[in-house]
Amino acid sequence: MMIEMKQIYKSFGQNDVLRGVDFEIADAEVHALMGENGAGKSTLMKILTGVYDANSGHVTEDGKPLQFDNTKDAETNGVSFIQQELNIWPNLTVLENLFLGKEPTKFLGIIDNKTMEKQALEIFKTLNVQIDLNQIAGTLSVGMQQMLEISKALMQDSKVIIMDEPTAALTTSEIEVLFEQINKLKSAGVSFVYISHRMEEIFNIADRITVMRDGQSILTTKTQDTTNTAIVKAMIGRDLDNQYPERNYQQDELVLSVSKLNSSVHHLKDVHFELHKGEILGFSGLMGAGRSEIMRVLFGLDKGDTQVTLNGKSIHVRNPHASIKQGLAFITENRKEEGLVLQDSIIENISLPALKSFSKHGFLTDKSMNDYAEQMIQRLNIKGKKEDICMDLSGGNQQKVVLAKWIATAPHVLILDEPTRGIDVGAKREIYQLMNELTERGMSIIMVSSELPEVIGMSDRVAVVHEGNIVGVLNNKDLTEERIMTLATGGNIDEAI
Ligand SMILES: Nc1ncnc2c1ncn2[C@@H]1O[C@H](COP(=O)(O)OP(=O)(O)OP(=O)(O)O)[C@@H](O)[C@H]1O
Ligand SMILES: [Mg+2]
Repeated sequence: MMIEMKQIYKSFGQNDVLRGVDFEIADAEVHALMGENGAGKSTLMKILTGVYDANSGHVTEDGKPLQFDNTKDAETNGVSFIQQELNIWPNLTVLENLFLGKEPTKFLGIIDNKTMEKQALEIFKTLNVQIDLNQIAGTLSVGMQQMLEISKALMQDSKVIIMDEPTAALTTSEIEVLFEQINKLKSAGVSFVYISHRMEEIFNIADRITVMRDGQSILTTKTQDTTNTAIVKAMIGRDLDNQYPERNYQQDELVLSVSKLNSSVHHLKDVHFELHKGEILGFSGLMGAGRSEIMRVLFGLDKGDTQVTLNGKSIHVRNPHASIKQGLAFITENRKEEGLVLQDSIIENISLPALKSFSKHGFLTDKSMNDYAEQMIQRLNIKGKKEDICMDLSGGNQQKVVLAKWIATAPHVLILDEPTRGIDVGAKREIYQLMNELTERGMSIIMVSSELPEVIGMSDRVAVVHEGNIVGVLNNKDLTEERIMTLATGGNIDEAI
């Protein structure tokens, strides 16, 4: 089986999003699709699976025209699509999500729960995930929701599985398990389209790579015939220099002190840490270790209690609104929670929480909101104009808007949970640069991240979380992947405090 997409064109209004893209999926291959945010990757896959119609171009399977009405039709015909925006039904259970619309039935159409449970447990076992089948899906962490989506696709009898940023919220060990399954299915003849911004993953899993830039396919190559640098260059059209800016942090006054942070829901017990002016404190740990949960309690998003001192004053954390007022900002790992109002424009979204800080204190005082929005669009390379509706932006570009929006509140302490998830290499570097500038101006940053190179590249200190507790804080000079992983997995190293 060979699927070929030839000279695909697609416009949304004035925006020519795809301008003659060629792409093919061969038998039993993992074909990576790469490109900057907004290059057109998701759109191309939406055309293949019938979400959108192309304006022109041909799609064929073994030379015969191929067209699906929608993703369900594609799925029935062997093409599964795990979309970038997860398709979880938040109010249904895990089991219901897995089988929605395709429940196995017994005699007289009675739904066969036993069979469903058995199949579900089997797939969870191969993926090595522990999820309670009766848990309400909306209460799962983003990572687990992603695992649920992957399970759903792997349960189908698919010939082609399209994964659009499948590992954005997964940890290293989960990614390993996923890759084992991909390789296993590939040996059985299944093909994969694999979309990711993570270079290591691509070089690990892909047989071929196609790079898109500005709506055109500009390179297709065997993975073994190319290099990291060549791919980046193809993506952004130039060489990329140093990924991480140099940090010049010198220990400064104490800004935030958190102690006795407890939550019975999240199994956090007496967590404590400190953050200084202009410092970037990384939070590392395995998924489920409690990193995000600590931040959620600190910010007042989730139940729990804690003692917090901010700039020498004891503050009471009750809810996000109060926290923002005190000078905290939190970009959670769950983008939908940020209150990105999809029907609103970029500028409306950016100004939403910032209105106060623009009229009052903060470092943006004499700049108008407009200037700020323009500047962020340019710096973060947001593919869109400030009047554009956020719904129409690509996944990565929506995320950049979220970032711009919270930075605009000029907080004392900015908490970033997975700040570069789903962001392309060029823009990633801009975000690091921005973090550097913000801290040089005195802002303090907490960065929760699952990407070890990023944690090591950007943090002045790293707190490692294991089973709901900070088990060690490493100084910049002692940072190695090995040390972090040792602590994260419950091991001991001398430097740990
Ligand atoms: N429904 C839509 N209406 C208008 N414009 C759209 C729509 N969907 C996508 N676009 C535009 O098409 C372009 C490509 O978007 P697409 O989502 O395909 O990018 P992508 O390569 O998947 O990026 P990312 O890495 O951020 O996910 C973007 O500029 C986006 O704004
Ligand atoms: Mg996309």
